[in-house]
Amino acid sequence: MFTTDIGTDTARAKHYLEHGELVAIPTETVYGLAANGLDASAVASIYRVKNRPQFNPLILHVANEVQFSKWAKQIPSHCRSLIKAFTPGPITFLLDKSEQVPDLVTAGSKRVALRIPDHALTLGLLAQLEFPLAAPSANPSGYVSPVTALHVKEGLDGKIPYILDGGTCKVGLESTIVSFDNNLIRIHRLGGISEKDIQHATGANTELSLAHDQPESPGQLKSHYATSTPLLVGDISQMLTQHHGKRIGVISFYRDYNQVSTVNYVLSPQGDVTEAASSLFSAMRELDRSQLDIILAESFPDEGLGKAINDRLNRAAFSAQ
Ligand code: TXA
Ligand code: MG
Repeated sequence: MFTTDIGTDTARAKHYLEHGELVAIPTETVYGLAANGLDASAVASIYRVKNRPQFNPLILHVANEVQFSKWAKQIPSHCRSLIKAFTPGPITFLLDKSEQVPDLVTAGSKRVALRIPDHALTLGLLAQLEFPLAAPSANPSGYVSPVTALHVKEGLDGKIPYILDGGTCKVGLESTIVSFDNNLIRIHRLGGISEKDIQHATGANTELSLAHDQPESPGQLKSHYATSTPLLVGDISQMLTQHHGKRIGVISFYRDYNQVSTVNYVLSPQGDVTEAASSLFSAMRELDRSQLDIILAESFPDEGLGKAINDRLNRAAFSAQ
């Protein structure tokens, strides 16, 4: 057991990480649960603390593009274009791993996931470390990802010594994950960078490969991101009629359903999808604490970030069934 402190002291974070301990770190997407990515026993603690299945590999976070050539065998030209266009930023690259990456990080896969997070505190920390940081989202496996230091504490209190507090994550959804197959870029998870963004930056063809029974990227498993309260996605007015009489929480894009529900979390009164994405996980967590019978979430326009939001909502809904 630890006393889990929250603070902004990167020297303290560095000290713990150098001694094989776990530290939660802020990124622009969600908080990560970080360990020395070259220390197999520190990496093993990540799986234990999160209660994460060991077949689900971890992203290695690095400070800059130069680090890519240490941990990946080669960097395809489309990957270079995406690095140039979007990093530091919410995109993760699946590349053939170099020998030095421990098998526990990649769960035995020949590919490693690399990402340069866009957060000043964490970039500052990475610049001081001699190793990359292996980090999944800092939530117990299967639950909604954390976007504040307090969210991390709710899920992992007593299990880690330190949470580096970088405020609220500005994107609020996990990174987009891509891999490369000649001129084709496969998108394994939708996030802050959209399919169109990727096409524009590279001129490559793209293919969505999001949900499989045998996922290549286990974040594709549908039962992720789940609230404990059952969650349904669709047209709010219709669902409100169907669930009349229950204690209902509504997550809506910009319309206000306060009069006709028990609680309503409006994600962006201005109808701004970027703002909506950044509030989504806070909304799911807050409603999940509100002793409701059901959470009804509105479907988003299915493009750009709206697609990534729908993906998260549909996964949460799937596991409610
Ligand atoms: O935005 C993010 O990506 C956040 C922040 C903390 O960086 N991280 C995150 O990590 O969402 P996690 O572990 O919750 O999700 C990473 C996804 C998982 O679905 C995992 O299966 C996939 O990336 N992944 C990691 N390494 C992989 C690999 N070598 N091959 C295939 N998929 C991989
Ligand atoms: Mg996760």
